[in-house]
Amino acid sequence: MNQNSQTKTDEMRKTAEACVHRHLYHAMPPQGWTNDPNGFVFFNGRFHLFYQHYPFAPQSGLMHWGHWQSDDLVRWEHLPIALTPDKPYDAGGCFSGSSVVHEGRLHVFYTGNGADGTQTQCLAVSGDGLHFLKYKNNPVINGPPDTVIPNQFRDPCVFRRGKRFYMVVGAEGKDHQGQAAVYVSNDLLDWTYLNAISAGDDSLGHMWECPNLFFIGEDAVLLLSPQGIAGRPPFSSSHDSGYFVGRFDADTGTYAHGEFRKLDMGFDFYAPQAAADGTGRAILTAWMSTWETPAPTGACQWAGSMILPREIAVQDDRLLFRPARELERYMKPVFAAETVSCGDLPPLKATAGRLQIFVENKDFVVELFRSADGREYTALSYSADAHTLALDLSRSGEAARGIKSVALAQPPEVLQLDIYFDRSSVEVFVNEGGYVMTARVFPHQGSDGIRLSGKAAFRRIRLWEFGE
Ligand code: FRU
Repeated sequence: MNQNSQTKTDEMRKTAEACVHRHLYHAMPPQGWTNDPNGFVFFNGRFHLFYQHYPFAPQSGLMHWGHWQSDDLVRWEHLPIALTPDKPYDAGGCFSGSSVVHEGRLHVFYTGNGADGTQTQCLAVSGDGLHFLKYKNNPVINGPPDTVIPNQFRDPCVFRRGKRFYMVVGAEGKDHQGQAAVYVSNDLLDWTYLNAISAGDDSLGHMWECPNLFFIGEDAVLLLSPQGIAGRPPFSSSHDSGYFVGRFDADTGTYAHGEFRKLDMGFDFYAPQAAADGTGRAILTAWMSTWETPAPTGACQWAGSMILPREIAVQDDRLLFRPARELERYMKPVFAAETVSCGDLPPLKATAGRLQIFVENKDFVVELFRSADGREYTALSYSADAHTLALDLSRSGEAARGIKSVALAQPPEVLQLDIYFDRSSVEVFVNEGGYVMTARVFPHQGSDGIRLSGKAAFRRIRLWEFGE
């Protein structure tokens, strides 16, 4: 970065640091823009998480790979930019991708977006996890199979199976159906096309962005972020993410799977990817936003952040999520009560913490980020008749939005909500993580109240505040 650019980003960073919406325990850029997480990996005893990054403005621009590292998935250290678009094959941006560790070195695969929008798959290698050298013979895959549109071929996910490596690349077929092209390699350099995974029609959108294939035991989980899936309930926006659980055949690159399920029932969740830690836990990250999400933080020179990392478990062909357990030791208890009704609760306040509620199957409302006059709040309301939980952002502050709801499969005897909120975000884990609802909210300064109301008796309420 030259001196002028450095001065500019330093100034932006100072403005961003003073922003009331900065999170306390979520990964976000020091300044400028982020969208997708990239290359999430556990390398030499630490998590490395890269991200689509435009450092010079709080909007999408020429994409770099920003870089964080973390010991515990809670505190994210900013490292120097890992990839800069400085070659002819990535002159239009270093787009999304993934990492694999091989022979002690970190190999990151990304899409080189050419100046004319042509997309190829490229490699950069690092021994120390800090400095990255682009492979001299890039691109390693110079173009898609004939059946794919050349500028709709991106977001390589590389993984190892036995002695071989596989790459799954998101694509739009010339038939305008989403697909994932599967390649195989013995050395990470020479790649042979094997197969296309697709729905066989356009029911799962026209373009599959950010495919991410990983294993939990023998279950092969495929995460997808399809474009053009809006209006096919439960998928409701033009950028939404879902998953399959299935079996991957390493000889043919074919994938047999169950139903495509939605990943997050809230507003702001896209481009998820998973990493295995040293103990084999599968951890999920994602952009806590979408291309439609408002970003009023642009006024203070930053935009976009990542979800709270979530541990993934498989139950039949469904995934369950819980926040990474490392966060627990940062949460300081501030309130606890058993068997109370709303009228007996003292006033509660917090802007970054965790609220856990066990409640019987009756109507209630939880308001977070509530202003003193009660006009501003983010509401989570439960209707027992329909056993539906609704996240209402219509009075949540700046750039307020509508309501999204999820109907639980059956009325629970006791409903468990674990709500993580962090100044400008809320993530609601329902009943042991069977559903999660994620959203960015932008409350005005001072909207720090928490209020519970309704007919329900609360079996247990606990509030923690985040603290270092
Ligand atoms: C998804 C996406 C990817 C692409 C990247 C560019 O949000 O469109 O397909 O690689 O963002 O920033």
